[in-house]
Amino acid sequence: MSLIETIKNIPKAELHLHIEGSLTPELMWQLSEKHSIALPYNSVEEIADAYNFSNLQSFLDLYYAGAGVLIDEDDFYQLMWAYLSRCSDENIVHTEIMFDPQTHTERGVGFDVFMSGFLRAIEDAEREYCISSYLIMSFLRHLPESDAFETLAQAQPYAEKIHAIGLDSSELGHPPSKFQRVFRKVKEQGFKIVAHAGEEGPASYIWEAINLLGVDRIDHGVRCQEDPALMTYLKEKQIPLTVCPLSNLKLCVIDDMKQHNILSLLEEGLLVTVNSDDPTYFGGFLNDNFIALSHSLDMNKEHVKALAMNSFKASFLPQSKKQEYC
Ligand code: ADE
Ligand code: ZN
Repeated sequence: MSLIETIKNIPKAELHLHIEGSLTPELMWQLSEKHSIALPYNSVEEIADAYNFSNLQSFLDLYYAGAGVLIDEDDFYQLMWAYLSRCSDENIVHTEIMFDPQTHTERGVGFDVFMSGFLRAIEDAEREYCISSYLIMSFLRHLPESDAFETLAQAQPYAEKIHAIGLDSSELGHPPSKFQRVFRKVKEQGFKIVAHAGEEGPASYIWEAINLLGVDRIDHGVRCQEDPALMTYLKEKQIPLTVCPLSNLKLCVIDDMKQHNILSLLEEGLLVTVNSDDPTYFGGFLNDNFIALSHSLDMNKEHVKALAMNSFKASFLPQSKKQEYC
């Protein structure tokens, strides 16, 4: 079996995927017509052509605007169903999906609307494709901590359906310490915790996410290599990093995929995983991320197997389920 076939066939988990970042230009166009929402584009092709980013903020501006076409329960169903259908095509058997409530509640679209659509699609995918899905609710870090407290309160009726709480959006200038108090409450309520750190931000943000928020995983974390003591800590504690290669390239965290450090982190013994982040904006779903690595790095089947196994080890699945794959 070729390396590409191994990548496509091996069962995998995806742990870092923003559902709003899986909105295709086609669905964005279709929903804009359905709801008579004016987009600053004249065609599906123009939407796709606009996806050239210079940094995280230049992407986030388009990503939040794009999410504005999601209005009713069926829109959120279609969004989730499209992603989970893609998972089925890619042999992704388990996925932990982030969603940003504040992107919707601030437009007057409530938890009842998006949660109903998400959960209906997740149940259908479990039945039709045997894919298991967990939801990760993420706070937007460019907003004040008080908004995060309010979002946590609004989420209470859905607490049983949410496995973890995360932190995303503009990293620089919004360190994890800004959200210490709300994550204390999150921990008291028994949720798992993840946070984006060390994507654009420095290694010190990764330390803050660990020491001040008590994270179970770090999203991205690729800048950990700037701090040898942090590398040692991540290795010893086996704190997972959910790395997103095409995202790093598209957002200019690296200039060339040949510079990506994921395989050197893997070889150093860190628990790294491959993920797609915002696949329709960054030019590829999960298998495309593996394939892009295989084209630019000296990647072999053992690397692919180790990365796939790590995706289950780093997941929030119960130990008995993890053992089926590891
Ligand atoms: N929200 C969606 N994608 C993100 C990313 N790559 N970093 C921070 N926030 C995000
Ligand atoms: Zn992300």
